[in-house]
This record gives sequence, structure tokens and C-alpha cells, in this order.
Amino acid sequence: RKPYVFITRKISREALKGLNESFVVNMWEYEEQPVPRDILLEEAAKADALLTMLSDKVDLELLDAARNLKVIANLAVGYDNIDVAAAIERGVTVCNTPDILTDTTADLAFALLMATARRIVEAAEIVKAGKWTGWSPLLLAGHDIHHKTIGIVGMGKIGETVAKRATGFDMEILYHNRSRNTEAEERLGARYTSFEELITTADFIVCLTPLTDETAGMFNKEAFQKMKQSAIFINVSRGAVVDEDALFEALVKGEIAGAGLDVFKQEPIGSDHPLLTLPNVVALPHIGSASAETRQGMIMLCIENIARVLYGGQPKTIVNP
Ligand code: GLV
Ligand code: GLV
Repeated sequence: RKPYVFITRKISREALKGLNESFVVNMWEYEEQPVPRDILLEEAAKADALLTMLSDKVDLELLDAARNLKVIANLAVGYDNIDVAAAIERGVTVCNTPDILTDTTADLAFALLMATARRIVEAAEIVKAGKWTGWSPLLLAGHDIHHKTIGIVGMGKIGETVAKRATGFDMEILYHNRSRNTEAEERLGARYTSFEELITTADFIVCLTPLTDETAGMFNKEAFQKMKQSAIFINVSRGAVVDEDALFEALVKGEIAGAGLDVFKQEPIGSDHPLLTLPNVVALPHIGSASAETRQGMIMLCIENIARVLYGGQPKTIVNP
């Protein structure tokens, strides 16, 4: 029997060339809709390998159904959608896509920071709506970025790469992380601080921390109250790291100045989401790593990891619990 690979979203047939001779490959044939849960469970029960999206829940129920499963390749650096401990217990290798998306995601984080600070989306909407009535001294006056203090929460590779971009804007760089990142300190002049010091002193608070039991809801009411009234909060990690009701309240009360959000607790959000009613919120549909080149590279990395494991070798990138 040839090993069976199931891909939970439509990807180009071209990308599958490396798998086709040795494996039976099947995929969910829709690009914009996630695979329904019942089909995912049926497919998982047959699969030796799964190529999953961050929107697919790989939990105990799925892992218990997946008797032949050897590898899960998640098309993301984050893997909070997967019960990694349970997978490892069952001998399933879990792979993610670090490194390849680092620069692209850092670019998006910085673009979102700039868009929020300088009110780019609001400004572009005014022009497109024919509401631009002429130059005026304080028209759409935003916040400076250069020479301000950026505070990066979660100083992994993406955080470091955001910090590198910040050096070009002559920013002071603070970071908070579970462990010190001495390389970022030496190479980029980043300064380690407590979470408390970071949120109280930074002008831009950029959240890049993975979602774990420890980080869930860490940006809560108290955290937003401690921030400067001029602070801008940027989230490019996972929505559940933030208490969205508390963020909404902080923005409405003017406890902080704005927010740029690429991620939400429950994705996708609809146009009725309270945060979308606020002019000082820039909302994006989880596009951190979404450049054509990087997404193609992530897909190829997932496929290579699957092939390596099914051939009995080591994957190129593996999740280390
Ligand atoms: C996207 O959010 C990722 O984790 O790659
Ligand atoms: C992971 O690569 C991260 O930068 O958080």
C-alpha cells in the first residue's frame, strides 16, 4: 500500500510533483473554505500524513481517529491548533514552517505598525470616497515612528527581524521574552525588560509571542491600562493572546491611541465586529506570511517534510515541544 497524504486545502498540483510517484495524494478542493470537520476526521483516519492549515483543529479526537498517521505538516510557524504533546505521545511527528516566513512576516508587522501610526488606511479611504477637500495643517496627522520606542513581546526570529527594521527608523528597542536574546541585544541594541516595564514605556507594543497557556489573554484590561495614552498596539501573533473586549474598551476610553491587528480570537471576523467600528483600528485578515513567494516556499517545505518522514528520515523543520 502506498502511503496516503491528505492536504486540507487546495494547493497547486504542480507543488505535489515530489509526492505523486510514491504516495497517494488527496486534497480538499476548495481554496477559500476550510475542510469540514467530519471530512477531516474521515481523511485523518486513512492518512499517513496530513498537510494542515492553522484553522484546522488537530486535537485528541482527530489523533485518536488517525491510526496510521506519522506526520503532520502545519502550513504556519505557529502550531497552537495542534495538540503537540498528544501527537508526540502517539509517535506522530509535527512540523511547522519557521525561518522561511520570518522576513515576510516582519515586513507585514512593520507595515501594519506604520499603517496604524500614520493612518494610512483611513487616509486612503478618504481619498477613494471623494472626501478629500484639500490640504490642511492637521489633516490625518498621525504618530511619528522614527526615534520612538518599540517594545517587542516575543523575541524569536520574527521579533528580531522586526527589531532590525526598527533600527533603520532610529527607534529605541525594548523586548520581553521568556529567555534573554543576547544576540538581539548585541547586534541590534535591543534591551530586555519586564513585561510591565515594556508596556508602560513603549510607544509601539508589538505582540509576536506564540499562543500558549501562559500567553493566552496576557494583553488584558490591566495591561492596556498601564500603556501610555499615545501607545499603539500591534498584534501579528494570535488573537487569543489578547482580551478583545478589554482592547475595545481601552481604545474607546482613549487609554491607548490605536491598534493594528492581523489576528483575531475567532477568525474570520465579520463586519459587525466591535473593533471594526473604531477609526483608530487597522484590521487585516491574518496575512502575516502572505507573499506569493513565501507561501509557495512554505508549501514546498511542508511537502518536503512529509516526504522525508514518510521515507523514514528526519524532517527539515520540526516542532520541539
Ligand atoms: C501564521 O500565523 C503562522 O503561524 O505562520
Ligand atoms: C518564531 O519563529 C518567532 O519568531 O516567534
